Amino acid sequence: MHRSVLETAHAIATKYLDEVAQRHVGGSASPIELVEALGGSLPVGATDPMEVLQQLAIKADPGIVASAGPRYFGFVTGGAVPVTVGADWLGSAWDQNSCLYVMSPAIAVIEDIVSTWLLELLDLPRHASVGFVTGCHMANFTCLAAARHEVLRRAGWNVEAQGLQRAPRVRVLAGGEVHISAVGALRYLGFGTEEIEIIPADGQGRMRLDALEAALAKGTAGEPTILCAQAGNVSTGASDPIGAIADRAHAHGAWVHVDGAFGLWAALVPELRSQVAGIERADSWATDAHKWLNVPYDSGLAIVSSPAPHRAAMSMKASYLQRGTEEERAGMDWVPESSRRSRVLPIYALIKTLGREGLARLVSTNCALARRMADRLSSAGGVIILNDVVLNQVLVQFKDDITTSHVIAKVQAEGTCWAGGAFWQGKQAMRISVSNWSTTERDIDRSAEAILRCYRSV
Ligand SMILES: Cc1ncc(COP(=O)(O)O)c(C=O)c1O
Repeated sequence: MHRSVLETAHAIATKYLDEVAQRHVGGSASPIELVEALGGSLPVGATDPMEVLQQLAIKADPGIVASAGPRYFGFVTGGAVPVTVGADWLGSAWDQNSCLYVMSPAIAVIEDIVSTWLLELLDLPRHASVGFVTGCHMANFTCLAAARHEVLRRAGWNVEAQGLQRAPRVRVLAGGEVHISAVGALRYLGFGTEEIEIIPADGQGRMRLDALEAALAKGTAGEPTILCAQAGNVSTGASDPIGAIADRAHAHGAWVHVDGAFGLWAALVPELRSQVAGIERADSWATDAHKWLNVPYDSGLAIVSSPAPHRAAMSMKASYLQRGTEEERAGMDWVPESSRRSRVLPIYALIKTLGREGLARLVSTNCALARRMADRLSSAGGVIILNDVVLNQVLVQFKDDITTSHVIAKVQAEGTCWAGGAFWQGKQAMRISVSNWSTTERDIDRSAEAILRCYRSV
């Protein structure tokens, strides 16, 4: 039975990927149409599983966004290098639980191996610990939980045992362009949004050092303090001056966390490394693999320079969760979940397939393509690039806010490519993120032509 079911899925998936570069990039169905096609009353009896898969593929198709394809520039969205999809399929077929060593010795060992490789690739402290989470949002949560543990431990407080309600006050500082997921993570950890002290950012969204110094100077010596810095602004791609931030914050005893969902990967490319200079001096780093590493959703990485607070914040004990020896990795010690899919497998397969050089090429090629897009678009009158294109992000304004909104809507409806919008420092912009392994110069030129066609017809 499994053979014909999986062969059906294989045929549907390979046909989809054969055609993904040709399809209309956005979804084309309304919610009502999708509900009508996919819904209906609760199935009571059985249906042939191959028929279920075939009908699912046909009926979901108008609502499937070609975000795995080469001309999807929305949000910050990686595709999936073929070997990572294959490894993900193996993970589903093996159906391993990454919770404890005994549940899957292979996955536990691969998590350790990939952790070592990642620390070397990013040149982060080799003793750091790594948790394989769903995405950067949960990576921020995991890292900030470790931060909360450590700054309170230094103040003589065990937050896991004693809670937060009577704990010493923790100062939380973040840049003016802090990503909403770091704010969300802080909220889950008991820090209200109004408690976050915002350090103003510059015109590219980078935390201002003079403002940081002024804010730190207001604190008292030894006060528990967490500082959230950022590598890769979600709109501009610019990174905070992390090394300088870490030096100043550490002088005040603060924990420095870096949200580097995609920007952290600048570390792979020698010419880009200066953008994240000094990252190794931070205390924790959150990043995504499903963005710039181009593995399938979902995949994020929580990295903490010192394993003790990481494990103290995350690990749980129960009499039935019997552990083995110290050398045996318990995946659940490093993440908020217990049971978890083997999302390390696509990362393992990717690193093996591309190697350090291939990974660096993936990042640097996307950056060159982003610059090409900016050049093509800005050659037209009235088109302004609002950011310095230092990484893979391009912010474009077409004449004014209203024209820009119309261009975004037209581009999405036209379907050659897909880009979303954002307000950047008071201006409506089209956000273009080049993050897919399969995007070529031809895709950029075709997309730029389509965008300018839409602009001229507004
Ligand atoms: C800087 C930054 N941090 C965190 C996130 C959240 O990542 P995810 O949605 O993968 O959890 C993003 C997403 O774009 C981001 O750009």
